[in-house]
Amino acid sequence: MINDLWYKNAVIYCVSVSTYLDTNGDGIGDFQGLMRRLDYLQGLGVTALWLMPFQPSPGRDDGYDVADYYGVDPRYGTLGDFVEFTHGCKQRGMRVLIDLVVNHTSDQHPWFQAARSNPNSKYRDWYVWSKKKPKNAEKGIVFPGVQRSTWDKDAVAGEYYFHRFYEFQPDLNTANPEVQAEILKIMGFWLQLGVSGFRMDAVPFVIASKGADVGEKPVEQYDMLREFSQFLTWREGEAIILAEANVLPGTDMKYFGEAGERLQMMFNFDVNQHLFYALASADAGPLVEAMKDTKPRPATAQWGQFLRNHDELDLGRLEEKQRQAVFAAFGPQPEMQLYGRGIRRRLAPMLGGDRRRLELAYSLMLTLPGTPVIRYGDEIGMGDDLRLPERNCARTPMQWSTEPNAGFTKSEHPILPVIDHGPYGFEHVNAADQRRDPNSLLNWMERMIRMRKEVPEIGWGDFRFVSTGTKTVLAMEYEWRNNAVLCLHNLEGAPREIRLTLKHDGEGCVLVNLLSGDHSEPNKKGRHTILMEAYGYRWFRVCGLDYLLKRDEV
Ligand code: NOJ
Ligand code: CA
Repeated sequence: MINDLWYKNAVIYCVSVSTYLDTNGDGIGDFQGLMRRLDYLQGLGVTALWLMPFQPSPGRDDGYDVADYYGVDPRYGTLGDFVEFTHGCKQRGMRVLIDLVVNHTSDQHPWFQAARSNPNSKYRDWYVWSKKKPKNAEKGIVFPGVQRSTWDKDAVAGEYYFHRFYEFQPDLNTANPEVQAEILKIMGFWLQLGVSGFRMDAVPFVIASKGADVGEKPVEQYDMLREFSQFLTWREGEAIILAEANVLPGTDMKYFGEAGERLQMMFNFDVNQHLFYALASADAGPLVEAMKDTKPRPATAQWGQFLRNHDELDLGRLEEKQRQAVFAAFGPQPEMQLYGRGIRRRLAPMLGGDRRRLELAYSLMLTLPGTPVIRYGDEIGMGDDLRLPERNCARTPMQWSTEPNAGFTKSEHPILPVIDHGPYGFEHVNAADQRRDPNSLLNWMERMIRMRKEVPEIGWGDFRFVSTGTKTVLAMEYEWRNNAVLCLHNLEGAPREIRLTLKHDGEGCVLVNLLSGDHSEPNKKGRHTILMEAYGYRWFRVCGLDYLLKRDEV
């Protein structure tokens, strides 16, 4: 396999322009601000940015309600600023992925306005209509408790329209060839402006059959994905799609395609949920199963691994008992939970701000099979504001310094309140202080990212689980091109001594610690005894016994 599939060894950072840095004092982050922080991001070591929606939008779902696919919301800047931005990233060797939200538009989009007001408009069939209220109107709701149905009557059209998400997000009729052609056109447009691909929103719904006569099990048109992907690679060979598709492990190959002819990347939601269960219960078993379940994949395909994102931590795929265990550990209060299935907090408060646990969680995530995706602010351990509605609590502005409003804006009215009180307030948690402190979480993260990039075995290689004799210590070995690494994680808040036997070319091996000086040499039987401290982690390179001789020579 050639190794110029850049996404195989990338480190992706998810950023929202609106809450990163405001430069003109209107309280809203902008592209000028993001550009000022490109050196910070390059310094952190990330190799690709995923930009959340920044197109013109009424902003009722944080930009996931797009009103114009070919523009930049004037509050954030102009198309000119966007091109300056992609150029700035290119100069620093960072790629850009942007959100592609084409399952639905905003109800303010001119297409929907035309569709609703004129039954003869060509845009009428770009959306999904029904004269009568469909029987399944209360089914398939994505935001239970907030959204009441998936079909609502449009007063202007006098008909019901389908909306998988909020009522102001009418679904596009993605089966319409004109809509499909428009999706390609949108992709082509942004590729031309310098992006390397898309984080595609709500993919299972984009490809599902839609309509009043569709029962509870819509049929997915997987071949649409091949068309998207072919188009991308014709236009720009290195471009990829990273899919948001929270599907059962058995279906993932339908999204990648047996020969990798569909999507290049998908977020691994199954592993994500089981990872939080592992952290909550100190039992690696179900996480191991989730990794086994999601293991088969074509060589070009890649998982995106993450801890928290901008949405709730969806625990819908866990067994009831497991879900309750995660709620009890990380989100026991009702206001911490959302949609009856998830936790809406940021990572640091979930883990009680405990540095050992944060390091464990991030070390584990960085060494999962795939490409890590980091949420902005997590690198400094930002908290949440549970007074804000739904998912906004974890979308507060980036905390840069101890200046007013965390240095995010000079305005007294930031777009979302800056966290200014309690243990996660900006006086305690900010990038400027952490930059100066060699022991800060930020500097730890930078070192870990650097090391992760030096261990391409994880992104490219094959993995297996090594027995440690206990379910609380997870051991994974990655191999690629005759190089191997062993990653150990102790999920428990108590120290534990483990024994393991590992071979290198059929012989015993030395484990060379990549993060500190305590290497491990085997006993005569080739066995290693390693003392893992509470929440401890180790990244070892697996070397032959002659490593010891070589080291002596040096
Ligand atoms: C998934 C996005 O991650 C979420 O934030 C959004 O609300 C829905 N898709 C609808 O676009
Ligand atoms: Ca601004």
